[in-house]
Amino acid sequence: MKKPVSTLKPVIKWSGSKRKVANQLSYLIPDGNTYFEPFVGGGSMLPFRKIKQGIANDIIPELVELWIAIKNKPEKTAYEYNIRWERLQKEGHQVYYEIRDKFNNTKNCFDFLFLTRTCVNGLIRYNSKGEFNNSFHLTRPGINPKTLKKIILNWNYYLKHVEFHNLDYTEVLANVKKNDFVFLDPPYGGNKDRYTKKAFDLNIFFKELERLNTIGAKWVLTFDGNAGKRKYNYELPRALYQHKTFIKTGNSPFTKMMKTTVDAVYESVYLNFQPSNKLLLNFDQQIGQKSALQGSLEM
Ligand SMILES: C[S@@+](CC[C@H](N)C(=O)[O-])C[C@H]1O[C@@H](n2cnc3c(N)ncnc32)[C@H](O)[C@@H]1O
Repeated sequence: MKKPVSTLKPVIKWSGSKRKVANQLSYLIPDGNTYFEPFVGGGSMLPFRKIKQGIANDIIPELVELWIAIKNKPEKTAYEYNIRWERLQKEGHQVYYEIRDKFNNTKNCFDFLFLTRTCVNGLIRYNSKGEFNNSFHLTRPGINPKTLKKIILNWNYYLKHVEFHNLDYTEVLANVKKNDFVFLDPPYGGNKDRYTKKAFDLNIFFKELERLNTIGAKWVLTFDGNAGKRKYNYELPRALYQHKTFIKTGNSPFTKMMKTTVDAVYESVYLNFQPSNKLLLNFDQQIGQKSALQGSLEM
């Protein structure tokens, strides 16, 4: 089933998602042989990737398993959500906690989908033991299964040519060749990853970027940013990139929860190539505009 990419709703809700700016960012994607996305998370760039063949990866096993299920077994994925959701409506919120306990033992990807759709603010959160620990969102019933089924089937179309992996990003980047393209949306430097609880090592990351430059692969990286007066600044070494621009990625989730006012969040976007004037013009024209998409990916 093909739905215009501009109207696609998220299939996997992910904090730090690039959903609102995916269309705009896609204007920076050049031609290439294979599209690589080593930090795929909620995958918001995938339908916008412009390059048909894709390799997507994330460190979280249940997330990758869910992506593979959406790709290979969309009907079953929708059905599995439906049975859990029906039980929730009939038996009440203890079903959520029962499924959460089960998930923490088995890491079943359909339990994971259900939890992401019914937990507080859809926030995927793990404790230090690697257990999912967010609570049930009492005031929301969770997305209706019929609606989610449509979303899953729509996304399935855009995943046909994507191969998913569950590896450390360095292992995926090892397969990138000349004329491939890599979209990079890593965790903020120094921040502990929500799953591995390890800080993201910027030295290793910078070395990987340098290596990609050497082999002649192009990349776009969304990186450091600022929200209001707070800066999350991890300037990329100047020698690594050719072009830098900014993008408004939304409002800080932290400030959303803690304060009544919200801060705009800007992220830097780095390119290891000089984009053509046409590409830049299209990108700039998108700034401040809501998802005014002109084309969509033909599979
Ligand atoms: C900022 S999120 C990506 C969000 C994504 N662009 C989206 O629109 O939803 C970063 C992702 O990197 C993953 N990650 C963190 N460390 C990783 C590693 N060492 N290797 C692969 N993936 C990693 C996290 O699990 C997370 O999903």
